[in-house]
Amino acid sequence: MKDGGLLKPVANAFDALATPGWVIARFVSGLSGRSDELPVTIAAHGIAWAGWVGSFGLLTRLRSARPESKAFRPSGTGHGTGAERDVTGDIDTGRRRVLIDSVAAAVGVAGTGSWLAGTLREPWRLRLTAYEAAMPGLAAELDGLRLVQLSDLHLGPNVPSWLVEEAIARALACRPDIVLLTGDYVHAGRRYLREAASLLAAFPEAGLPTVGVLGNHDWYGDAPAMSRLLSSAGVVMLDNRRTFVDPSTRRLVSTVPGSNASGPSPLCLAGVGDFLEDYSSYEDALHDVPARIPRLVLSHNPDASQTDELLAAGTAGATRYADLIVSGHTHGGQISLPFIGPPIVPSQYGRKYAWGAAEGPCCPVLTSCGVGMTILPVRLGTVPEIVLITLRTGPDRVASVRGAVVTGPTFPRTTRP
Ligand SMILES: [Fe+2]
Repeated sequence: MKDGGLLKPVANAFDALATPGWVIARFVSGLSGRSDELPVTIAAHGIAWAGWVGSFGLLTRLRSARPESKAFRPSGTGHGTGAERDVTGDIDTGRRRVLIDSVAAAVGVAGTGSWLAGTLREPWRLRLTAYEAAMPGLAAELDGLRLVQLSDLHLGPNVPSWLVEEAIARALACRPDIVLLTGDYVHAGRRYLREAASLLAAFPEAGLPTVGVLGNHDWYGDAPAMSRLLSSAGVVMLDNRRTFVDPSTRRLVSTVPGSNASGPSPLCLAGVGDFLEDYSSYEDALHDVPARIPRLVLSHNPDASQTDELLAAGTAGATRYADLIVSGHTHGGQISLPFIGPPIVPSQYGRKYAWGAAEGPCCPVLTSCGVGMTILPVRLGTVPEIVLITLRTGPDRVASVRGAVVTGPTFPRTTRP
């Protein structure tokens, strides 16, 4: 965690406890998501804390109203059969009470530990996940191309700019050739659009070709403005569009390369619009791309890997749209419980695309669990992530992805030379 950056985690810890109040305040006000508008914040916290204090008082009264165990009283009984039955019953009551208190204490300790870890520790532990993706038809000149992906920053009330800056610094430290941005740059509203764009401008300013698509939360803010600001910052926005990586220079070129099959193929970087709030058209993005060119597609939502349009095009050959899809959106469920996994994943396909590499019906899908948080200011079992994809020339018809190598939060932080 950044020095002096403790204020936001502590604020988030209290905000997480106010979740019941947020649910009620949202229902009453009709607002979606957590708003940083002061009246709604005050109402949410007021409702929640009144509920917590009331519940604590009620539990305390119920506990004190329970009869004390006679087994610990100096009653002087113990002679005769009736007294023996009483003492035995008192001992059972005492044991039951100790058992209930022990279970309550264990649940309390586990809950408190999870709350502290999920708010003060895990949301701020950036990790690096590395993949090798073999793509058929990738030119030898592009073998070893390093792509770094950042997703779901959710800059806003619960995600401070210093976490985004830290993620960008560490992404730069990976020494990528190209940067992939897969949406949800802001959480909601227009307040953070300009700040998000100026932070992400660090990639183009470092001389790195940078491409991106919008996510559903950018639409909850102002998608056209977000797109415009990122474009002004030097990010090539690819919502239902495509560009190419020149094999000789490893720079972006926008024009469709010639059909000369003897020369090395460029790599097509395409994107589709958000699956929930926009439209996702592979045809718009890729209709004029020659079949020999390998194509990597950015889609904020991994569910766009199973659209009718994509399925109809087929898995391989001249009609295919994608060789590899790179996504975000799911946050890995954001809370993943031991032995259970993530109880909630925002996908039509359950946990299939929750996090990591999955075999989609047409091609592999890589899903990042992102950097920021949504709905709850909590991450548990799904720490924020930077993804590094190294492309390899694949001999097969269909692209393949090798298992993720996950490193801890101490991966190199050297600056780009
Ligand atoms: Fe997101």
